[in-house]
Amino acid sequence: MEELGRIERAAKRLSGLGRPEVAVVLGSGLSGVFPLTRERALPFAAIPGFPTPTVPGHSGEVAVGEVGGREVLVQRGRIHLYEGHSLADVVLPVRAYARLGVRVLVLTNASGGIAHGLEAGDLVLLSDHINLLGDNPLRGPNLDPLGPRFPDMTEVYDRGLRRIAHQVAEELGLRLKEGVYLATLGPSYETPAEIRAFRALGADLVGMSTVPEAIAARHAGMRVLGISCVTNLAAGVSPAPLSHDEVIETSRRRAGDLGRLLSALVPRL
Ligand code: HPA
Repeated sequence: MEELGRIERAAKRLSGLGRPEVAVVLGSGLSGVFPLTRERALPFAAIPGFPTPTVPGHSGEVAVGEVGGREVLVQRGRIHLYEGHSLADVVLPVRAYARLGVRVLVLTNASGGIAHGLEAGDLVLLSDHINLLGDNPLRGPNLDPLGPRFPDMTEVYDRGLRRIAHQVAEELGLRLKEGVYLATLGPSYETPAEIRAFRALGADLVGMSTVPEAIAARHAGMRVLGISCVTNLAAGVSPAPLSHDEVIETSRRRAGDLGRLLSALVPRL
């Protein structure tokens, strides 16, 4: 199948960087959080089949290096559905990591806070998600060598990994909440009426990423951890209008703590 060939070619190119078993995807404004030693990096454009991100704040490179003696792959920047790419493009990196031998995927993102009590700057572990993208990365012929036609999604965000993340956060004195992430297509932010509807549906956070990658990763049998930085209160929760500048500014402000969390967490995953 053509798509499998594309995934294999990307994985082969990445195998020149190393054989990591843990991968971390860094979202909006978070690219700089995570220093690696002995880093080797490739821009997306140098990896066959990788699409090119177009959003400011998403630089687009894949690096392999070490943190705490553990080899790790770090993806700086990501592809979003709203950029016009297909979901197959959006999840291609994650599938390539699965073929490379990555077993644990950490997905980070910036989100709007819906649940009462959330504040801009909060770090929140994803406990579950709601897919309102109107599409699914597994639509189309199933890629049998990757995973089953109808994969279970009862526990997308691994309970054991979440327990470790909570332990590490506590050791570092960092507050880490937990919540349900709802994915919308974007790129317009939500209306206040949409946010009230999402709250009624059970969403605590809203954003425009992560869910496709999490579904594709579970399909391929990877264990997934999701960490969100609440960069703003969702539309109508606070009276202020939303802006991408605010999203980037808040995530940059919180990048230090997220970096400390990841640096301590990754060697223990
Ligand atoms: N809505 C959607 N996506 C987001 C938001 C938001 O409020 N903040 C950061 N990403």
